[in-house]
Amino acid sequence: MHFDPALLKGLRGARQVAILTGAGISAESGIPTFRDKLTGLWERYDPSELATPSAFERDSALVWGWYEWRRMMVLRAQPNAAHRAIATLSELVPQLTLVTQNVDDLHERAGSRGVLHLHGELARAYCETCRNVYRLPDGVPELPAAGKRIQPPQCASCGGRVRPGVVWFGEGLPELAWHAAVTVSCGCDAFIVVGTSAVVQPAASLVHKAAAAGALTIQVNPDITGIEDSVSFSLRGSAGDILPALVLQTWRSRTV
Ligand code: APR
Repeated sequence: MHFDPALLKGLRGARQVAILTGAGISAESGIPTFRDKLTGLWERYDPSELATPSAFERDSALVWGWYEWRRMMVLRAQPNAAHRAIATLSELVPQLTLVTQNVDDLHERAGSRGVLHLHGELARAYCETCRNVYRLPDGVPELPAAGKRIQPPQCASCGGRVRPGVVWFGEGLPELAWHAAVTVSCGCDAFIVVGTSAVVQPAASLVHKAAAAGALTIQVNPDITGIEDSVSFSLRGSAGDILPALVLQTWRSRTV
């Protein structure tokens, strides 16, 4: 794989690198993206209609069942070459900040630390009433049947209803993570956006903030997303192919 020498030169000179990932980076681990059609019995449901506060109000067991199904799928999945390349990169550049829209923990399991989760995490849940946070148990490898309704648990402190610890459409982002992501996007030398359709705001605005602040901006995606004209380089291909090659050719070759 050959990259534009100007891209490699720009990346080698970068001291602060920011990376924004979306569902596409976990696709090669077998986790369907949001724009992929759901399979099996979930086929009838549109993720954008399940991931809302009103859906949870209407049918909390359906929504909890959907998140349990996704959580189990993630527990059974493994990080892929793209997750690992990012974890390796954190040892090769002076400062790397990883921002993700993903609610899975595949970045952490690949070795990345301090990941900014803009849309929350599947492994956490919290009480709607008293906001008590729960870490959901890891060791449940059985995948619930697709479409299965599961009643959400009750809060052990107040008896309130426990909800998934993710950000739903129409909800605000976790403030600390969002502010940190904006700060790093506006201050980085290079911003790499990987595996996102870049349509969900405000996360998608980070690449524009980075470009406006003068960073080198790079997109990695097998498809056209619509931000091609806003980035310095658009690398067409899967994250699992491109990121390891990019890390190897940009940084590894310098360290060996
Ligand atoms: N490598 C890189 N990119 C890939 C790969 C791959 N192997 N496979 C698919 N993609 C790309 C697709 O081309 C698409 O552009 O990943 C992107 C996935 O887009 P979405 O499904 O829209 O995921 P994302 O951008 O993360 O969605 C943003 O929307 O539903 C909400 O909160 C949810 O965090 C999510 C947000």
